[in-house]
Amino acid sequence: MPQAPAKLSIEDKVYELPVIIGTENEKAVDIRNLRAQSGFIAYDDGYANTGACESAVTYIDGDAGILRYRGYPIEELAEKSYFIETAFLVIYGRLPGASELTSFRSKILGSALIHEGMRSHFAGFPATAHPMAVLSSMLNTLGCYYPEMVTNDRENDLAHLDTAATMLLSKVRTLTAMAFRVRNGLPIVYPKPAYNYSENFLHMMFSQPYADYPVHPDVAKALDLIFLLHADHEQNCSTSTVRMVASGGANLFASASAGVCALWGPLHGGANQAVIEMLEKIHADGDDGTRFIQACHEGKGKLMGFGHRVYKNYDPRAKIIKAQCDKVLAALGRKDPLLDIARKLEERALSDDYFKSRNLYPNVDFYSGIILRAIGIPTDMFTVIFAIGRMPGWIAQWKEIAENPKQKIHRPRQIYTGETLRKYVPIAQR
Ligand code: CMC
Repeated sequence: MPQAPAKLSIEDKVYELPVIIGTENEKAVDIRNLRAQSGFIAYDDGYANTGACESAVTYIDGDAGILRYRGYPIEELAEKSYFIETAFLVIYGRLPGASELTSFRSKILGSALIHEGMRSHFAGFPATAHPMAVLSSMLNTLGCYYPEMVTNDRENDLAHLDTAATMLLSKVRTLTAMAFRVRNGLPIVYPKPAYNYSENFLHMMFSQPYADYPVHPDVAKALDLIFLLHADHEQNCSTSTVRMVASGGANLFASASAGVCALWGPLHGGANQAVIEMLEKIHADGDDGTRFIQACHEGKGKLMGFGHRVYKNYDPRAKIIKAQCDKVLAALGRKDPLLDIARKLEERALSDDYFKSRNLYPNVDFYSGIILRAIGIPTDMFTVIFAIGRMPGWIAQWKEIAENPKQKIHRPRQIYTGETLRKYVPIAQR
């Protein structure tokens, strides 16, 4: 049934604005013609109330704690699927058939090598370079080696999308492992056909020329789960950045590289690094979390890994990851005092008025760092792990933009608050 338009009354005029309803009954007022009709624009700093696109990739109901990729609940995918199958689902919108999946996997395996010329780029980074800076630069550099896919001509770049997608999924893993190996003066290790995606990542990170890293199945499974849980998350900061860059016609490699930069910040993907640094500080200070929670009340601290722009309930990804922590620590025969602190902080925050009244719950980053730390991933590489996991989402969202013939360049407006017209004064008169 067609929806009655919304009516907006400004000054002495009433404007009719169409209403859009999504497949999950999400509602929007379409203001695309508002400025042309009225001279007014909509103002929404931080875009908390702005739908920037229509998208068929991911559905989130933040109040109910629901997350679905292409209609499939995250809990079901986490239990029954694995990262590469889910990556196919996210990119192409359907679960792959058996032969499609075999071919997708073998293309990913076959794309793992990095052009030898890129080694010299790694050598150019100082040892202090943050891995997110390295990854972002390397993804853009990677595109330079495949000029036939990086033309910024939509039709051509889309024609190469399948190859570019498998290449990015594969090479983001190799580039991450290479960054780690080069920084530590270790020789590069390439993947083995017998290993799956996450097993190969662990192998490429930690194997030595004289001894393979013993990949524990529970550890590989937990890492795979972390990748899968990060595969997409609709219009977050980095994905919006990817779409923004893509809307100008830029190729997939450049758009993904921009996504890595946007992901880096501690309010977004960088929160997983910030959580561990926060827990380490609480531990070093001999605090059991009480003083830290008090500091949050006074506005002097932020409980990293808590809160979310969209979830006003428990992040469903956090529930799944939390359950994995014990499993991984047991598999590796470890105990981690930071896990005890994290649990205590969570327990307190969930019954604390400050956090309750603001609907602040653990998000995906609160417990993922405990697992990554146990595996031996350096803290400053946690956000790179997020980036590997998010690659299918960035590809899918780039594809949505590129395949839309009506796609307009993203170009928000502003409310200017600077000086009004001034007259230039020559230097001698100032
Ligand atoms: N600890 C303490 N107070 C908080 C926190 C927190 N983690 N998060 C929000 N608040 C308070 C905030 O100070 C504000 O209080 P008041 O109303 O008194 O001014 C209120 O809650 C609303 O917060 P906001 O900053 O307006 O909310 P937002 O939607 O703009 O920000 C957020 C969302 C995720 C940036 C924020 O909750 C935060 O900074 N969390 C910590 C960083 C983090 O864990 N980020 C990872 C998000 S999940 C991974 C991803 O997909 O990016």
